[in-house]
Formats: sequence, C-alpha cells, structure tokens
Amino acid sequence: MNQTSASDVLRALTLGLRVNPTTEAYPRNSESRTDFEEVEIDSLERIAQEVFDCQKCGLCLTRNAAVPGMGVREPLVLVVGEAPGADEDKQGLPFVGKAGAYLDEWLKALGFSRQDTVYITNLIKCRPPQNRDPHPDEIQQCSPYLDRQIALLKPRTILTVGRVPSAHFLGGAHRMEDIHGRVYEFRGIPVVPTYHPAAVLRNPDLRPVVWKDLKNLHTLLVVKGLAGPLPTRSTR
Ligand code: URA
Repeated sequence: MNQTSASDVLRALTLGLRVNPTTEAYPRNSESRTDFEEVEIDSLERIAQEVFDCQKCGLCLTRNAAVPGMGVREPLVLVVGEAPGADEDKQGLPFVGKAGAYLDEWLKALGFSRQDTVYITNLIKCRPPQNRDPHPDEIQQCSPYLDRQIALLKPRTILTVGRVPSAHFLGGAHRMEDIHGRVYEFRGIPVVPTYHPAAVLRNPDLRPVVWKDLKNLHTLLVVKGLAGPLPTRSTR
C-alpha cells in the first residue's frame, strides 16, 4: 500500500466512510480514486431530529411537539406504546401523563426504570387529534423511525402496550385478549404484548392479567442472566 492510499483509508474510517466493495480497496494507481463511497451513519440523535422536523403525514399540522422517545441504549426492555397523548404532546416526552406514571409502577415492580434499564417510545411519534387511533398511512409513514430505533438500541426484549403497537409487530389486526400471554419474536428479539396502562386504569380486572405478562417478560431476562429475582413488594 502506498502512503496516499493508507491515509485515504484512515480518513475513510475516521469519517465513517466505507471502502467501496466493488472497487479495489487499496488501488496502486492513485489516479483511479473513485474508491470511497459516503455511508450515512444513523444515530438516535439523528432520528430524533428527523422526528422533530417530520412532515410526512398530516399529524405534523396538529402536533405541538413530536415525541421520539427516551431511555437508555441496549435496554433490557423497549416499551412501545401507540402514540403520544395530550401530556406527551405538551412535553415532548413519552408516557408522562397518568398512564405513564402507572407504566413506571409496572417497571418498578420488575426492578426496572426508564432511567437505567428501559427505553420508551411509541409506534407513532405525533399525537393524533383527540387521541384517535392512528390511520394505516400514518403508521406506514412513521414506523420506519421505530425500525431504525430498534436497530440502534438493540433491546433485549420488547414490551408492546396496547392493541395498535402489538398488532403492528404481529402483523394484521388482532384483539389483545387473543394475543397476550404469549411471546413473539421480531428480528430475533422476544416481543411480549400486553394491555395499555390506560386500559388497565379504566378496568382494574386487567391487573392480574398484565402482571402475568410482565412476569413472563421478566422471566425471559432472568433466563438470559440479565435480571435478578423480582424485587419484593417492600423494595419496589
Ligand atoms: N399512551 C401512549 O401510547 N403513549 C404515550 O406516550 C402516552 C400515552
């Protein structure tokens, strides 16, 4: 390798450029220098910026703030909700209203939190007016952000809360009562669907059902050696 080629390769690596695999990696002839191709390096920050600026669907006209998500990288649990509500739209953060406080209780009961072990986001990053269900075209436009987040975050498990995000991962229309209680898989990541915290607040009969789903999720992590025993009630 001559001196010029070596420094070009170093520059490519530093800038995140990729040596074009269709051309010789270290050409001896420095005149044929079409051997670097710029590669887009994705990042959570970049996705967040794109979400803030997004105008791919009509929800950008009614939102106050888009809500990319919050939490830690390589989370033990990636929580995926449906879409921001009124509180989230005001603050630009996911699950910060009543349902969010209840979700935090669920996580705490498992020994987890959005500060150290969890990432929380939504299938749709902008609030649908009056909290209506997201339209299929809105899901189609917005879900690539979630796909990219999953690729970068590398979550150990995914907890989908509510019918809409659960159905999205499973493909097709589903009722929660038909799909919860089992573990599915998305790109090799276990997916546990359960009810939305807001639905459980409205219907406390769902509490034991959700607790069973959450314990299943926890067991998956214990089996992988990623979580210890459940906290006792007094330490939750
Ligand atoms: N409900 C959701 O599905 N997501 C939020 O961020 C808040 C409420």
